[in-house]
Amino acid sequence: MNYKYTSKSVDDTLELAQNLESEKFPGMVICLNGDLGSGKTVFVKGFAHALGIEDNITSPTFNIVKEYLMGEMPLYHMDVYRINENEDFGVEDYFDKDGVVIIEWAELIQDRLPVERLEINIKIIDDDTRIIVFKPFGDKYEELCNAVL
Ligand SMILES: Nc1ncnc2c1ncn2[C@@H]1O[C@H](COP(=O)(O)OP(=O)(O)O)[C@@H](O)[C@H]1O
Ligand SMILES: [Mg+2]
Repeated sequence: MNYKYTSKSVDDTLELAQNLESEKFPGMVICLNGDLGSGKTVFVKGFAHALGIEDNITSPTFNIVKEYLMGEMPLYHMDVYRINENEDFGVEDYFDKDGVVIIEWAELIQDRLPVERLEINIKIIDDDTRIIVFKPFGDKYEELCNAVL
């Protein structure tokens, strides 16, 4: 089942991410898809701040992965937009760590994603409005969507 949320502002998206954070667990994988400027990084910001990470969150464009280890749980933030087709940055290694992995542009590495994950697709409607669709893969993510949305 898919879940749909309409965000009317940056604050709505931050709050949504914060609510998901409250259901976090070690090994959680969140895959973000959506056009440039749809709000993927805004979502990561909300999640990171809820974890207690105070750093300024920006997309890890040059090194693909940024690790934030100062929060309640490690956060591994990836942006694979500029990844080369066969480039191997060891994404699989992060799925086994006891933290949360959030991947911007995850659809570009579709065949390397774990079977169990939460996919989030953000669609730009107008300047301030976004339709955010959640697609859980696996019971844990299904329950999480039920709890939060
Ligand atoms: N409802 C909304 N949710 C998230 N971002 C929004 C929203 N409305 C407007 N925005 C704007 O959209 C942009 C999203 O940027 P960003 O998160 O960097 O996108 P992405 O990482 O998907 O490329 C920001 O400039 C933000 O202010
Ligand atoms: Mg981004």
